[in-house]
Amino acid sequence: MPFNLLKVVFLIALIVQLCVGAPNGSPYDRRADSSENANAIRVDAVPEFDLLIYTQRWPITACYEWREHNKDHICGLPDPETSWTIHGIWPTKLKTVGPAFCDKSAVFDVSQLSAIEQQLEQHWVNVEKNKPTDSLWEHEWLKHGTCAAEVIEQLNTEPKYFGQGLAWLEQYSVGAAFASSSAIKPGYNYSLTAMNKALYDYYGKDLAIECYHDSKTHLQFLNEVRICFDKQLQLTDCDGIVGLERIALPSSRVATVISNCNVGKPIFYPATVPEESQSANDVAPAKLYQMLYEVSGGAQNGEGTKESYEFVEVIFA
Ligand SMILES: *[C@@H]1O[C@H](CO)[C@@H](O)[C@H](O)[C@H]1NC(C)=O
Repeated sequence: MPFNLLKVVFLIALIVQLCVGAPNGSPYDRRADSSENANAIRVDAVPEFDLLIYTQRWPITACYEWREHNKDHICGLPDPETSWTIHGIWPTKLKTVGPAFCDKSAVFDVSQLSAIEQQLEQHWVNVEKNKPTDSLWEHEWLKHGTCAAEVIEQLNTEPKYFGQGLAWLEQYSVGAAFASSSAIKPGYNYSLTAMNKALYDYYGKDLAIECYHDSKTHLQFLNEVRICFDKQLQLTDCDGIVGLERIALPSSRVATVISNCNVGKPIFYPATVPEESQSANDVAPAKLYQMLYEVSGGAQNGEGTKESYEFVEVIFA
């Protein structure tokens, strides 16, 4: 019958097209090909993201938060002086967290960083002294760096990723921003409005201001500042980050700040790690505070940033 014949012809054509159209076999085969030939088109997912979040942290708050999580936690600060340090460069798809861990087979190789290792120890500080010095670098590279590396040429090796972090700290240090305009100094409280103004005046973009909410004292501490870059590495506003929304300022009907801080309360920018136990008085207030901190209760309930919780989970899982 002509009708059935037509069907058969159509089917044969379809089969032929499928075979010719897919000469490389399954996606797994093609993945293997691409590792042999760098120019091959990869069909396994290239990570999708919109922003690079460059996060600087105030290590004194990070130290405090780390100690608050567990009584066995020991924290350390940069030596010889405390300044804003790097947390990481995080490729981020708007309204979501991540991507993360884009190359599951990647291995962190600290020896690739020997030329900049001293600078990293000073400026990309692991305050969590229970863990090896390079554990923060390893975590940032495997979780975030491997994703950036697949898309952004300037970040596609360990030395480039970490070198970019250091270069941005020179160019865009939060400490310099605070010092320049309104002289925001450690040791005092500031309003979210004042902090945001100082940052906006310096960068010309809306950054994201992250507070650590201390469940015990009900104080909020300035913890991190996130600076956003587009994929061409140009500064851009930090809109669309999960957990850091635009909030209205009470003083204005139009102005907003991207933050998780409580806009109605002062933000404490600590000059020293707040002390909790009497024994802390015995420790020299020098470079490396190695304080064993006795917790009477707090430190567990959802006050940390997502990042630090993930971090803690990854390390202690
Ligand atoms: C900062 O504000 C808190 C809460 O109002 C207050 O308890 C604390 O004493 C203030 N600290 C300084 C240094 O002014």
